[in-house]
Amino acid sequence: MSDDRYPLMLSMAGRRAVVVGGGQVALRRTRSLLQAGAHVVVVAPSVLPELAELPVAVLEREYRDGDLSAAWLAHAATNDGTVNALVAAEADRNRIWCVRADDAGESAAWTPAVTRHGEVTVAVTSGGDPRRSERLRSAVALALAEGSLPVRPRRTGAGSVALVGGGPGDPGLITVHGRRLLAEADVVVVDKLAPRSLLADLDPDVEVVDAGKSPHAHNLTQSQINDLIVSRALAGQRVVRLKGGDPFVFGRGGEEALACVRAGVTFQVVPGVTSAIAVPAYAGIPVTHRGVTQDFSVVSAHLDPSQPGATVDWDGLARGTGTLVLLMAIAHLDAVAAELVKRGRDAATPVAVICDGTMLTQQVLTSTLGAVAADAAAAGVQPPAVVVIGEVVRLRELLGPPAVETGVVETTVVETTVLKAAAAGATAAGATAAGAAVAGATA
Ligand SMILES: C[S@@+](CC[C@H](N)C(=O)[O-])C[C@H]1O[C@@H](n2cnc3c(N)ncnc32)[C@H](O)[C@@H]1O
Repeated sequence: MSDDRYPLMLSMAGRRAVVVGGGQVALRRTRSLLQAGAHVVVVAPSVLPELAELPVAVLEREYRDGDLSAAWLAHAATNDGTVNALVAAEADRNRIWCVRADDAGESAAWTPAVTRHGEVTVAVTSGGDPRRSERLRSAVALALAEGSLPVRPRRTGAGSVALVGGGPGDPGLITVHGRRLLAEADVVVVDKLAPRSLLADLDPDVEVVDAGKSPHAHNLTQSQINDLIVSRALAGQRVVRLKGGDPFVFGRGGEEALACVRAGVTFQVVPGVTSAIAVPAYAGIPVTHRGVTQDFSVVSAHLDPSQPGATVDWDGLARGTGTLVLLMAIAHLDAVAAELVKRGRDAATPVAVICDGTMLTQQVLTSTLGAVAADAAAAGVQPPAVVVIGEVVRLRELLGPPAVETGVVETTVVETTVLKAAAAGATAAGATAAGAAVAGATA
């Protein structure tokens, strides 16, 4: 049976709406009216505390004829059908649209199940079956969040730049907001370590500019990237600068944001899941753990610590006991490990080197601070890699790799030094489970 009702969006900003009822339904209706900027009056002898706390006028009494006076919209949301019918009758007499919560068939207006996606609003009704509408709405919301629907605006407006953190590689680790902006972009300027598999879902006419071939060899200089994103935005395009991890963690996102500020370009920063935390996590290493360590430091180790220009406080890091997470450390792993041992870190401290973290090609090498440089060289370790130094690395024996959860299947697990100490405190069942996970992942 077809539906001949008339769909409509209402601008309720500053307009009076009366909600009769003080329970959960009234609360939900009031919240969405307030979101739309309506001036809401609630009428009910008793009102939920969450409802009373909202910025609404509450008449704490039974509904009376005349309560809808000056209203544009009414909600009859009591659990008493007779009261709801009276509210609907007053609304009808005064040509006010009224939604009856108890009887869709007797209602003059209906509230759809709604999902919003930036400027896109999808409202679903389905023959008076709210559960069906909600399930449909959720399916549409998921598809919108995944970027599988054509949401790219066709009307030209002012251009803008979004600096989007794409996470460390697993395409599932981008935020919902970042995913949406990507789906709406006209131009995507992408880094080597961004989750490039997401580019396959872009419309064919979206321009993709490759800003980096490898972690250290860039197609474009930073100043060329700044000029590109600014000029495209000034030309009216929606630019997404898709970066690996988080834009503000060794990502030069600050420089790109400043370029936008200088040029007067509208920009936003969408934080990302940083490799500094997510890559160890996918390898079964929490960067903090109660009873093991209370702090962790994230350090760029792209410079040899013995050379001038290195500003990292290696002395303080070596003397502390917290977890050290080193990014860009492979080129100088030898010098960095030697420096830490020289300044006081125990050479027996466990270390993990995680390459291609969160990706299907993830590889993990475990060693000690004294041996890691030689072990990594022997294993032919290549960037990108995150190096984790500290007692938390031992937890990997019990927690990693979470192959089932993450989809990561480690192709090579090089365990050069067997770190048994953590297992001593573990239950036999826990140790067996971890062993099984490793066996399953490498089979
Ligand atoms: C220029 S920094 C950018 C960091 C990024 N903004 C973040 O928050 O993850 C690049 C370094 O991050 C680390 N990295 C990024 N993604 C990685 C991954 N999937 N696996 C291992 N290391 C990664 C490596 O140390 C790499 O050299």
